[in-house]
Amino acid sequence: MNVFRMTELDFAGKRVLIREDFNVPLDEKGNITEDTRIRAALPGIWHALKAQARLMLTSHLGRPTEGELKPEDSLAPVAKRLSELLGMEVPLVQNWISDFDPMTIVPGKVVLLENCRVNKGEKKNSDELAQKMARLCDVFVMDAFGTSHRAEATTHGIAKFAPIACAGPLLAAELDALGKALAHPARPLVAIVAGSKVSTKLTILKTLAGKVDNLIVGGGIANTFLLASGLKIGKSLAEADLVNEAKVIMDMMAARGASVPIPIDVVCAKEFAATATATVKNAREVAGDDMILDIGPQSAKQLAALLGKAGTIVWNGPVGVFEFDQFGKGTETVARAIAASPAFSIAGGGDTLAAIAKYRIADQISYISTGGGAFLEFLEGKKLPAVEILEQRAAR
Ligand code: 3PG
Ligand code: MG
Repeated sequence: MNVFRMTELDFAGKRVLIREDFNVPLDEKGNITEDTRIRAALPGIWHALKAQARLMLTSHLGRPTEGELKPEDSLAPVAKRLSELLGMEVPLVQNWISDFDPMTIVPGKVVLLENCRVNKGEKKNSDELAQKMARLCDVFVMDAFGTSHRAEATTHGIAKFAPIACAGPLLAAELDALGKALAHPARPLVAIVAGSKVSTKLTILKTLAGKVDNLIVGGGIANTFLLASGLKIGKSLAEADLVNEAKVIMDMMAARGASVPIPIDVVCAKEFAATATATVKNAREVAGDDMILDIGPQSAKQLAALLGKAGTIVWNGPVGVFEFDQFGKGTETVARAIAASPAFSIAGGGDTLAAIAKYRIADQISYISTGGGAFLEFLEGKKLPAVEILEQRAAR
C-alpha cells in the first residue's frame, strides 16, 4: 500500500481531521456496550495530540436520515467515552460544516464532530459537501478501517480535496494484518457469515462461495438458505426474494466440492423477546408460528467439529440471537470452537465483537478486526475505495 502515513507528517498547530469508525453498539439507554472500535482509534489520536495538532475527529453512528439529527443518532455517548479514555474533555461540536472554526481548538486538544451521516450528501459522496469539509483541515487522516469499504464524503470525497490525505495507524495495521493472513490461507478455509440480512451480504457470499471450503451461514441469512433447501421456517426473519440467489450459492459450492452446512436442528420461539421460551426442533419440524432464533445443539456440534479441523477461520456474525441466553448456545458453541481451534482465526463486525466479549475469548482469537463489512470486502479481494483514494493522492 503506497500511501502517506500519519507518522511522516508535521502536525504542530495544524488543523487535522481524523475520520474514525466509532459506529459502536448502544443499549436502549444509550450506553456503549462494546468499545473496541474507540480503543483501537487511540494510537492515532494520541499521535496527533502529542504532535500538537488542532484535532477534529468524526464518525458515523448507525444509518440516520440525512438532514435531521435525532437524539439517538448523536455521538454524545462516544464523546463521553473518549473523554474518559483520553483523560481530557472532548467537546461534541454540532453544525460543524457551516458554523465551526477549527482554529478555536487549542493545539494538543481535540473535539468530536457530530455524526457525519446527518450531513446532506454524505452517503452519496457529494463533492460539494466534501469540499466544505476539506476546507476545515490542513491534513485529513483516514483511520476508519471499518468504513473503508464505503465511498462517502468523509471516507472518500474529502480525501480528494484535502491539502494532504493520509492513512492512520489503525487502517494501516488492519490492512497489513489481514493481507498477511489472507494472502495464502492455510486450508481448509472456513468462513462464518451470519447476521440479519442476506441482501447486504449477498455479493460477499457469492465471492466467498468461490474461495472458501466451508461457508457457514447463520441468522436471517441461514433462514434464507433453509428456505432454499426446501425447508419451512415459519415466521422467521428471511428474504424470500433471495432464495434463488441462495440456491445459486449452494450449487456453486457443491460444484467445487465445498459446502454450505445447513442446520439440521434449530431453536425456535413463538415471539422475539428476552423472556421467550426456547424449543429445540428438528429443522424439518418448524411450525407456521415459529421463529428460528438459534441453531440447535446437533448443528452446533457439527460446526464445532468443522471449525476444529480448519486451517483458517474468518468469522463475521453470530449464528443466533445470543443477546438472549436461551438463544445463545449456538453462538457460544461456535465461539468456543473457534477459540479452541488451532486455525488462524480472524473475527470482525460489531455483533461478533460483542459475542467475543460475552464469552471472554478475545485472547484466543488470532486477530480481531474493527471491520465488519470492510473486512469481508477485503477478503473478497475488492479494492476498498477509501484506501484507493489515499493511494491516488500519494501517486499524484
Ligand atoms: C460497520 O459497522 O460495519 C461500519 O461502521 C459501516 O457501517 P455501515 O454498514 O452502516 O456503512
Ligand atoms: Mg454494518
